[in-house]
Amino acid sequence: MLDAMKANRSEKAFDREKIHAGNIGRSVDHAAVKVEVERLLVNMNLQQKIHEIRGWQAAPIDGLYYAGGDEALNIPAYRMVDGPRGARTGMATAFPVAIARGATFDVELERRVGLAAGLEVAAKNGNVILAPTINLLRHPGWGRAQETYSEDTFHMGAMGVSFVSGAQNHVLTSPKHFALNNIEMTRFEMSANIDERSLHEVYLPHFKRCVVEGAAASVMSAYNKINGVYCGEHPVLLNDILRDDWGFKGFVESDWFLGTRSTADAINAGMDIEMPVGYRFDDDKITQALAAGELTEKTITRNAGRALYQKVAFDLANRQKPDPSVVECSEHIELAREVAEKSFVLLKNEAVLPLSVSQTIAVIGDLADVPNLGDRGSSMVTSSQVTTPLEGLRAFGNEFGNEFENEFENKEAIHYFASDADLDGIGEFDVAVVVVGLTYKEEGEFIPSQQQESDGSDLARGGDRAHLRLPESQEKLIHKVASKAKKIVVLLEGGSAIEVSSWVNKIDALMMVWYPGREGGHAIARVLFGTVSPSGKLPVSFPRSLSQLMDWDITALDITHDLFHGYRYLDKKAEQPEFSFGFGLSYTEFTLQGLQVERAEDRFFLSVSVKNTGDKVGAAVPQLYVSYRNSSVERPVKELKGFGRVELGPGETVDLEIELSDEELCYYDPDRRWVLEACTYDFRVGQVSDNLPFESAWRFDGEDWLPE
Ligand code: BGC
Repeated sequence: MLDAMKANRSEKAFDREKIHAGNIGRSVDHAAVKVEVERLLVNMNLQQKIHEIRGWQAAPIDGLYYAGGDEALNIPAYRMVDGPRGARTGMATAFPVAIARGATFDVELERRVGLAAGLEVAAKNGNVILAPTINLLRHPGWGRAQETYSEDTFHMGAMGVSFVSGAQNHVLTSPKHFALNNIEMTRFEMSANIDERSLHEVYLPHFKRCVVEGAAASVMSAYNKINGVYCGEHPVLLNDILRDDWGFKGFVESDWFLGTRSTADAINAGMDIEMPVGYRFDDDKITQALAAGELTEKTITRNAGRALYQKVAFDLANRQKPDPSVVECSEHIELAREVAEKSFVLLKNEAVLPLSVSQTIAVIGDLADVPNLGDRGSSMVTSSQVTTPLEGLRAFGNEFGNEFENEFENKEAIHYFASDADLDGIGEFDVAVVVVGLTYKEEGEFIPSQQQESDGSDLARGGDRAHLRLPESQEKLIHKVASKAKKIVVLLEGGSAIEVSSWVNKIDALMMVWYPGREGGHAIARVLFGTVSPSGKLPVSFPRSLSQLMDWDITALDITHDLFHGYRYLDKKAEQPEFSFGFGLSYTEFTLQGLQVERAEDRFFLSVSVKNTGDKVGAAVPQLYVSYRNSSVERPVKELKGFGRVELGPGETVDLEIELSDEELCYYDPDRRWVLEACTYDFRVGQVSDNLPFESAWRFDGEDWLPE
């Protein structure tokens, strides 16, 4: 009785205090920093200032890219390390890739990943992590999809700022690549052509959030052009928007080598540090530009001051290096496993999962038995140990000491078949688990190295995908197994949407496991056997076929960007994808109840009760979308504007509170800027983007808000 009367536990979808705790960038005494930077500059000659605005050399030194720094003046150098899935130097914890973490829809977890990655970078003597990558997944074929979180602006901002705040407990972050870098093969030359509204409304808000709310200490510019002007010398982007509008106080560093295209233009536009080495910013070129009057010493002083600013703000001269034992420590390894478990997206399950240990299992496919951590571009991380799916399944009982242990001593309960093995025997097994997917060969940052078949210690190819299907041999493998197996479960590895329509009807269960990091195999075993219920949701729509999406040409040099891509595009065309944005099944069921909406000051507070009506522990991800009625401008059919992840025991109910500010409801008008339009706003809540049963309509009459 008493229990029944207890108020439900209540949680905030995005708890600012928790997310931003300890972020050094947010508690800077700017007045004091300014005074100190001015004091330093007064004592520096031109040569010393120039030294501050460029990297030292093309290749890293002990895994770190150095920039600036002067021992005599007690100015430390920046020591930069990639990146988005952990520290890319030596051995480090390889976390699941960012798109997998996007699928957790768990901002507090992402803060913890930022904390761990930042700490490992600091322990390796770095002071800047070249992450997070927050370029929108405009098309799922983008080679670097795995490095980013999402196709959605709001979701990207929430995940990105959580990483920034976590990592900035230890090091500076560098959200990248500013901006509109979303194709790989032509990244050095491509012009992203865009109108002002789409730029501000769709492609920039997540950068703004990292800068304004997350106080990101630096920003890395992009290689590509925007409307014909290279991002690395784009005064509107680097100066007017980033500094004047957003109040950015840190430094902009170029993307590596081809990110700086000029000397005077780049410096004048607000490119503060050329990386990894001063090629355009070398002494001769700067001297010539000064002599020609294209550049002034005042501007160099300005940029040097920006480069110095965060060294003072983060007190880099006195920061202690953490003990190296934090690298791949047990806490980080556990975290990598937890993240992987929460990132898997169960896409189909016809009464086959979870598996039971009394079943015999055939594990099939080459990918079941190889570490597959993602691409081998700049975000590659090497771990001292990686558990493959097969190893994880085999170790399941022993590693976690549960009641299944004895049965797993009989290794024959799990039998492995390589892709080219004779599969005739698989009909004998209760279940066939097939592991298929992509690798660094099919997608990733494009590194045209001669050694394209990297052994894992070297950078190697990648690039955009021209189509979204699996390699043909893998589709054939699925068909073959499906024709012989009693039950077939497919695990999909990859960094973005994969087209499954030609085979999905032939299988019993499908789970997207992304590139699941060093602990992926253990996480897979725990989810397949039901120790943990799957709870990931898709941060990218999975189309039925490429033809459902906008044109995609990986050789394009001019690409028009607008308000519509991802689910916004599919909605506009009234196309139903194979799996919608925000979709993901569980082993338990959730119901949402009683959407309540309150208004205070400039925002709404929405509350929804989430109940676990099944018999297993699990996590639900309520999602808030907004639709606009009678808008005077074209608006997407709906847009994500809030989400939260709640863990619930069987029968438990939690009230989730989602905050929605007026700012999120505005559209951008080039003349009037952000416009809160007089019209009706439908707040729609559900557990997947295409099923939003809870609605509340509010009308803004130009002055007041009224419920409709
Ligand atoms: C990538 C960046 C990366 C840099 C340094 C560039 O090629 O685009 O994301 O941070 O290399 O490795």
